[in-house]
Amino acid sequence: MSIEDKTRLPILGLMADGNTPEGLYESLREAFESEVGAASAAGLESLRNRWLGRRSGLLAAANENWLKAAPRELKPVVGRLQNALRRHSDAALKAAVKAAAAPARRTSEVDPTLPGPARPFGAVHPVRRALEDVLRIFRPLGYNVVEGPEIETFFYNFEALNFPPDHPAVDEMDTLFLKDGMLLRTHTSPCQVRVMESSQPPLRCVVHGKVYRNDTPDATHSPMFHQLEMFAVDETITFADLKGTLEHFVRNFFGPGTRARFRPSYFPFTEPSAEVDITCPFCSGSGCRICKHTGFIEVLGCGMIDPEVLRHSGLDPERYRGFAAGFGLDRFAMLKYGIDDILLMYQGDTRFLAQFR
Ligand code: DAH
Repeated sequence: MSIEDKTRLPILGLMADGNTPEGLYESLREAFESEVGAASAAGLESLRNRWLGRRSGLLAAANENWLKAAPRELKPVVGRLQNALRRHSDAALKAAVKAAAAPARRTSEVDPTLPGPARPFGAVHPVRRALEDVLRIFRPLGYNVVEGPEIETFFYNFEALNFPPDHPAVDEMDTLFLKDGMLLRTHTSPCQVRVMESSQPPLRCVVHGKVYRNDTPDATHSPMFHQLEMFAVDETITFADLKGTLEHFVRNFFGPGTRARFRPSYFPFTEPSAEVDITCPFCSGSGCRICKHTGFIEVLGCGMIDPEVLRHSGLDPERYRGFAAGFGLDRFAMLKYGIDDILLMYQGDTRFLAQFR
């Protein structure tokens, strides 16, 4: 018999068939429980009508046909059963609606063997890495590391370094001028003057930092790049000291097989001056496209500090002499790590940077 039919029958007839009031209400409760258990969140509202609806609900029918129709002596028992089921089904429906609205509860335990969320690690930028490689070579030789201002005066950037006023580097094509006669330094050499002005020889110094030139960006030019400069001032320094120091440096930086070749050159702030080529790190000197089949690549400029520069810095050129060398750190990084475009270093592309982890 369906649950609807059962609640439509008078209680005495049902009891004549062998049912007890307790058994009748128990069968109602069981039917109710199984319907609530199977109902979807949306189905719970119609379930409330079906069971607790005032006029046509199943409990209203039981109230009518079982409780009201019960003989007087049965009424206390049936009334208690009727009330208990009404309270129970009301509370159970409310709880089911609340549970359906709450977010799904995590049923499984945490699995500690699963990998955690990926934590992206940073990488040392290739320029910084090249800088650290250079400093690791010069620090044990007794060199101090200094950084000077990126905004310079005309005096420190050019005049004190013995540039004639009509030197092409002074031209606005290369130099980025600011207000009030200030400029963005075009090289790190002005720091030589600043250091010599403020401290007495013997001096051994590495200067590094950003420099700026009004260049159109391409694979080998960036309007901002990094230079590194080393210089030493003392009473007995010779060109042989410069050669020995630089040979030691390039062998340690590029590898023990690296040879250095000194070619006469010109810089306003050194005399004599030289440019240094090293055996091509890509073909070890046998000749390739990168070294244009010469086996050598030019990497730095150097020379003996011009007596005029010592004088501008307040040092007596009769007593002191010094050597200096400078190069682009970006270019060193490119040669050492096989990077073929300087602009890659300034685009912040993490796919590029991640290669230097
Ligand atoms: N300052 C030069 C430049 O920017 C590089 C340079 C050449 C620095 C020779 C030096 C040096 O100290 O001796 O092109």
